[in-house]
Amino acid sequence: MICLGIESTAHTFGVGIITEKGKILANVKSAYTTKEGGIHPSLARDHHEEVAESIIQQAIQQANIKEQDINLISFSQGPGLSPCLVVGKEHARDLAKRLKLPLVGVNHCIAHLEIGKLLTKAKDPVLLYASGANTQIIAYDNKKYRVFGETLDNGIGNFLDRVARNMGFGFPGGPKIAALAKKSKKYIELPYIIKGMDVSFGGIQTNIQQKLKNGFKKEDLAFSIQETVFAMLVEASERAMAHTAKRELLLGGGVACNERLQEMCDIMCKERKAKSYVPENQFLTDNGLMIAWQGILQQKQATKTYKQDIRPRERTDDIEVSWKS
Ligand code: ATP
Ligand code: FE2
Repeated sequence: MICLGIESTAHTFGVGIITEKGKILANVKSAYTTKEGGIHPSLARDHHEEVAESIIQQAIQQANIKEQDINLISFSQGPGLSPCLVVGKEHARDLAKRLKLPLVGVNHCIAHLEIGKLLTKAKDPVLLYASGANTQIIAYDNKKYRVFGETLDNGIGNFLDRVARNMGFGFPGGPKIAALAKKSKKYIELPYIIKGMDVSFGGIQTNIQQKLKNGFKKEDLAFSIQETVFAMLVEASERAMAHTAKRELLLGGGVACNERLQEMCDIMCKERKAKSYVPENQFLTDNGLMIAWQGILQQKQATKTYKQDIRPRERTDDIEVSWKS
């Protein structure tokens, strides 16, 4: 069984191809970026429309297979930006119709978690899912991936992107903050906002905006931002690990590419004799491979009716885990 999966929830249009045994055949993507300013949903949609066919064909070429070798098509149903989601859905549906294959819609957040488990061999981890729009601490309990903690306002990636935008950088901003942070060791106190296992970034963002106006150095702020907000995530993750008695932490989402965040998670896990797992960067940021793998896991729910729709606001804990992984 070979599945082709299409990802298009936000800035990335990605196509992955994987076998039911978890052998990676292809992972191709194109991301919408800007030199200045944030992500605009309709421009991201235009980007996806422009690259979709070519990314699908490149993935099939990379996999070194023929279209006829594919047995299943999957796509990201949500959560995400509706205009972007529609592009993925339509291309998945058209491909499934043309090749007369079953189609399955999957949840993007759960796909981040399952691909991490496949690639790292973590068995029953707490997932720290830190991406653009999402920041959640997720773990399996009684047939669902439950959200133990989450952001009360923005995702951490969106927060980093906004701060970078205020500093005059384009999208994505996370890597720019990370590069700036390496140039300083001066800690400037920032609000530290954590309630139980929930976090919030809005107040910190306002505080930083004021500090930027007051002439604080960008690199000192970048360093302090990382130390503060990553410590919040690590504290919430540790609490979830203690609460669920789990001994594995899995990182997922684009912000998990951050080396300082990875290092802080590693230190926390070593201190509690647990293990921290991080997949390769190309599988942390949005990618089609995770959608393909989630398609394989959910193949029993696939249909040939092609009527499945997008679910822009679907939550991780809406989904009953009916597969074994
Ligand atoms: P989701 O739909 O899962 O919420 P997303 O679509 O925004 O996420 P991802 O590719 O998972 O996409 O993550 C993108 C985010 O990751 C951006 O906000 C970007 O700034 C951030 N990011 C990427 N690399 C780094 C890094 N090294 N350090 C910090 N943030 C990073
Ligand atoms: Fe994502």
